Amino acid sequence: MKVAVLISGRGSNLRSLLEVAAQPGYPAEIVTVIANRPGAGGLDHAAAFGVSHQTIDHKDFPDRTAFETALTAALKAAGAEMICLAGFMRVLSSGFVRQWQDRIINIHPSLLPLFPGLDTHARALAAGVKLHGCSVHFVNEAVDGGAIIGQAAVPVLGGDDPDKLAARVLKAEHRLYPYCLRLLAEGRIRLIAGRVAIEADPDPGHSLL
Ligand code: GAR
Repeated sequence: MKVAVLISGRGSNLRSLLEVAAQPGYPAEIVTVIANRPGAGGLDHAAAFGVSHQTIDHKDFPDRTAFETALTAALKAAGAEMICLAGFMRVLSSGFVRQWQDRIINIHPSLLPLFPGLDTHARALAAGVKLHGCSVHFVNEAVDGGAIIGQAAVPVLGGDDPDKLAARVLKAEHRLYPYCLRLLAEGRIRLIAGRVAIEADPDPGHSLL
């Protein structure tokens, strides 16, 4: 499966995907990395792995439609079949999402449907939850609202602040995203009535999680 990864910043999730995609037998290939912010740190990871990368700065376009037209052209030129959002901090229009229906996934730093949107770690601490984590989900027209593919939970510990909690969640993200992308690329995920069904792993020992 040919995958494009969209980023806005440091790209640590991108790096975890690049690392697994470089392993023999991993079923997804990262064909391009696109940043919407010039100088996004993740572009260096793409370069280090010899993966094609480019910046399409949303500020260079008069509106969202023009930006997304350029994005679509770049994705098609790269032969992308699937889009992974990895810290991509731009909301995609419903037109774009429909065009790529069931072919965009995202990683979000909370156990959805809790804490969609921003500042998830501070909000988790304020809510007093004792488990927090991350989710990989399909992208639909509702922000952070698409069908959930996989989740990983971490404890909230006494003495946590948003940064400490974010660091614990991020480690879980780096295991979860490669695992979920592998399920998808192996064709083991079905969307049934808006929910994800996962075929049993014939070889659970092989799991990356
Ligand atoms: C990650 O924690 C990711 O879950 C989050 O941004 C961070 C990106 O880090 N994404 C969102 O909040 C999307 N709404 P990274 O650039 O090091 O992968």
